[in-house]
Amino acid sequence: MRRIIAAVCLCAALLVSALSSAAEKTYISIATRSTQMVLGTNDNGELLFLHYGARMGAAEQFEGLKTYRRVDYSMDPQAYPAQGGRYYNVPALAVTYHDSDRNTELRYSSHKVEAVSSDMTRTSVTLVDSKTCLEVKLIYEAYYDTDVILASSEITNGGKKPVVLDAFASSAVNLKAGKYLLTHFYGSWAREMQMESELLTHGVKTVENKMGVRTTHTENPSFMLSLNTSTFDENNGEVIAGALAWSGNYRLSFQIDETDQLSILGGINPDASAYPLAKGETFRTPWMIWTFSSSGAGQASRNLHRWARKDGCYSHAKVCPTLLNSWEGAYFDFGTKTLTDMIDDACEMGLEMFVLDDGWFGSTYPRDNSKQGLGDWELNEKKIPEGISYLADYAHSKGMKFGIWIEPEMVSPKSNLAEKHPDWVVCSEGREKTTTRSQWLLDLTNPKVQDFVFGVFDNTMKLAPGIDYIKWDCNRHVEGFGSSYLKEQSRFYIDYIQGLYSVLSRIREKYPDVIVQSCSSGGGRVDFGALNWFDEAWTSDNTEGLSRVFIQYGTNMIYPACITGSHVSAVPNHQTGNVTPLKFRFDVACAGRLGMELQPKNMSESEKEFAKGAVESYKGYRELVFEGDLYRLISPYDGNHYALMYVNEDKSKAVVFAYCIRYQARTKTPLIRLSGLDGSKNYTVKELNVPEGKSCFWGDGKEFSGEFLRSHGINPQLVKLYDSAVFIVESK
Ligand code: GLA
Repeated sequence: MRRIIAAVCLCAALLVSALSSAAEKTYISIATRSTQMVLGTNDNGELLFLHYGARMGAAEQFEGLKTYRRVDYSMDPQAYPAQGGRYYNVPALAVTYHDSDRNTELRYSSHKVEAVSSDMTRTSVTLVDSKTCLEVKLIYEAYYDTDVILASSEITNGGKKPVVLDAFASSAVNLKAGKYLLTHFYGSWAREMQMESELLTHGVKTVENKMGVRTTHTENPSFMLSLNTSTFDENNGEVIAGALAWSGNYRLSFQIDETDQLSILGGINPDASAYPLAKGETFRTPWMIWTFSSSGAGQASRNLHRWARKDGCYSHAKVCPTLLNSWEGAYFDFGTKTLTDMIDDACEMGLEMFVLDDGWFGSTYPRDNSKQGLGDWELNEKKIPEGISYLADYAHSKGMKFGIWIEPEMVSPKSNLAEKHPDWVVCSEGREKTTTRSQWLLDLTNPKVQDFVFGVFDNTMKLAPGIDYIKWDCNRHVEGFGSSYLKEQSRFYIDYIQGLYSVLSRIREKYPDVIVQSCSSGGGRVDFGALNWFDEAWTSDNTEGLSRVFIQYGTNMIYPACITGSHVSAVPNHQTGNVTPLKFRFDVACAGRLGMELQPKNMSESEKEFAKGAVESYKGYRELVFEGDLYRLISPYDGNHYALMYVNEDKSKAVVFAYCIRYQARTKTPLIRLSGLDGSKNYTVKELNVPEGKSCFWGDGKEFSGEFLRSHGINPQLVKLYDSAVFIVESK
């Protein structure tokens, strides 16, 4: 009884302090070079979300704000809306307390602003529920130069009894506009990151995934939102982009209420994830990444890319070696000689790394097909008796780097690991374990499994001195989730990803410089959570040029080219059967991290010669792809052509890629405005890898003013299906 009285007294004191600070009103401005978010308290001490958009000056201008909302229609836009009280819309936070009360009424308590670096300011705002002492800290990190704001929440059970979190978004943003055009991504295996735009209507739209891992095939935790327009526009209008840095289940929700106000929530998907929080415990949500552009979607992408290159991605746009990957060239069917021949051919074509894909391991259950062997990460000596170190040395002796494939989160039923540790497999007790691609998922919520997965990476690195690259694959999602380790099964989805990140953090501590690719049946793990640890992403198993145009266009809406693995493969393409010219395949792959994935033995001498030239020329401009700003010039969704350019910071050099992607009978040549250039400079335009020495552009080699190239443009004669061209545009 005494305890209860004490609790009531404490919370009453908090309420008084919240109300007294409410009377004073607090305004919080979170600003970058050109954008601003504003939060402020109202008479009740609630923290309102007042503005996100262009910089608008002093936050205190909101003093006296009236929204004229009827009091019976929910509440004014909250910075972190919680279930209960007068709030009826989708909540960022929902809590069940020990007495089964489900109301949370957050009030502003305090805030603090710290300058973390010359470019980044962190603002932390503390909100408290007066009855239960549940505390929420909203954290905003504002990156000044890149106009990116990261937001997350930390939820602390400040009460004396355990609680359960039923919803726990990272961040909420509220907007008011006449129209909201949502652009988001959908797809499937081999068809990732297709773009779809729709005008939001009243009600709730969600973009979500509940597959546990491999969560970005069918959708992606990211979006663009164009305001006051029905048209997606590269260069005009207000656009907000958002992305969640989380590799597990996610939910982005967009709710337009009766006042036409849009509330966006981004965070971990709470579905089947009610999260118990003991007394004093804190739950930290992943970062939601926001940017705002007042000049169209192009600038929103460039903001995200710049932030990713500078702060958000592990690789920081470090240039990656060009490579030959063994998968589509050899699949499981190889011995040492096949591989050393591939290394020889790769070297001949000027490639800088060889990556040995699946199939090199397993002795009791040799990995000669996808049906067995995962989990048994020892060398298959029948295939490579000389050892991995022989292959690595062979590549190194030719001045090339060496990489190798692993899939450490997985186990085949036919493996020594599955026989030894059946309890390590994800499964709900008493239910049948389902296989996908003949494999099960290991339970990364279990610290012993985390040690094992770390060990797979560590031991693979020890197979040869100087392994330079690891391709980390993840070829199935979660089905029938469950863990024999966890007491509370609803922690599974979250603890799995936290376990994965903990392993990756250990790996990065020990191997900071190894290039690590995030692959998940292609683009199943392309998100900013993964990119915090991985250098690059394999964006799709579909290596066919035309499909890749759409996959890369969508991927690079949000994620930068410096993480986009893109390979040239054989024809007919193994996934689509399509036949495209080698030049087209190269010109598409060269707009990302260039690699090849085929059997060079099957190439003709002239194809090899072309490849050599294309690789060589790529090396000459790849800094632009890795570090330059992307300008999308023609959308592949708009017509017969696709064009893009990367420009360096001082706009003195650019590379332009242009493609004809539909048959259109020689009637239309594209006019491509090079919008990323500086109008006051003069530039020479030079086509690279020109077929038979005959450029497709009349102005090849000529000098033009930046104004000409920006406002008139170039009209290369790309009129036949799969015609393509690469231009270097350089000012003296
Ligand atoms: C997945 C990957 C491929 C390849 C195979 C190997 O499908 O996406 O690139 O590595 O696994 O089994």
